[in-house]
Amino acid sequence: MNGPIGVFDSGFGGLSVLSDLQRSLPQADFLYLGDNARAPYGTRSFDAVYRFTLQAVEWLFAQGCPLVILACNTASAKALRNIQQRDLPRLDPARRVLGVIRPTAEAVGALSRTGVVGVLGTPGTVASGSYDIEISKLHPGFRVVAEAAPMWVPIVEQGFADSDGADWFVREAVDRLLARDPDIDTIILACTHYPLLYRKIRAAVPPHIAVVRQGTIVADSLCHYLRRHPNIDTAISRGARTRYCTTDHAPGFARLAGIFLGHPIQAETISLT
Ligand code: DGL
Repeated sequence: MNGPIGVFDSGFGGLSVLSDLQRSLPQADFLYLGDNARAPYGTRSFDAVYRFTLQAVEWLFAQGCPLVILACNTASAKALRNIQQRDLPRLDPARRVLGVIRPTAEAVGALSRTGVVGVLGTPGTVASGSYDIEISKLHPGFRVVAEAAPMWVPIVEQGFADSDGADWFVREAVDRLLARDPDIDTIILACTHYPLLYRKIRAAVPPHIAVVRQGTIVADSLCHYLRRHPNIDTAISRGARTRYCTTDHAPGFARLAGIFLGHPIQAETISLT
């Protein structure tokens, strides 16, 4: 039986990845799930993020998704490995769960000339050291400088991404990161919520430094993956439909998601507990 590609995030952030996935795979069906009722994940324990993410994956599998993308760096950092190694064999070895950190770490090799890469992420992603581990594995000699931007997710989740008040918090985290190393020439926005602040971040970062969003990187990597795994590719249903689900209030989700996506959507409330 065929089914949609599941796209999971703690809240709205994964929409920034979903829109690039929709552009790259226009015929594919998608099922987006935001765990808005329990966002943010970035300040939660390893165990809580793992438990919540596993519940989301189980729910998406129960809806028939043959493939789930954890479009959330915090979930990718704290839950992906356990789910792939411990849970997938038990749940359904024929399905796949993929994250966003590995493809981003792969892509950064071609982007940085100095080899000094700045990472802005949630406290959880930064504390996990996942980018440092993946980037040094793939690009020996690169140096990763990571700083947390703990206020950026609440600003986005509460709908203040375009507010004047957000400017101060954007500049504060960018300045803190850049003060760590003058050779940073590439900054990864290692949280799927952050592209929603892109204009403000770009304005706060000197023009010679690249600011990298993950959406197109993850979409390109998925297309490449599907070419190499025809069994997963053929299990994806293709009707160009997307269903949007949230664990919180559906009308509120639909309103903000519509603003982020630039077109109106309908949403449903589901429960993971
Ligand atoms: N958007 C998620 C990420 O990419 C995390 C946001 C949160 O803290 O819930 O890390």
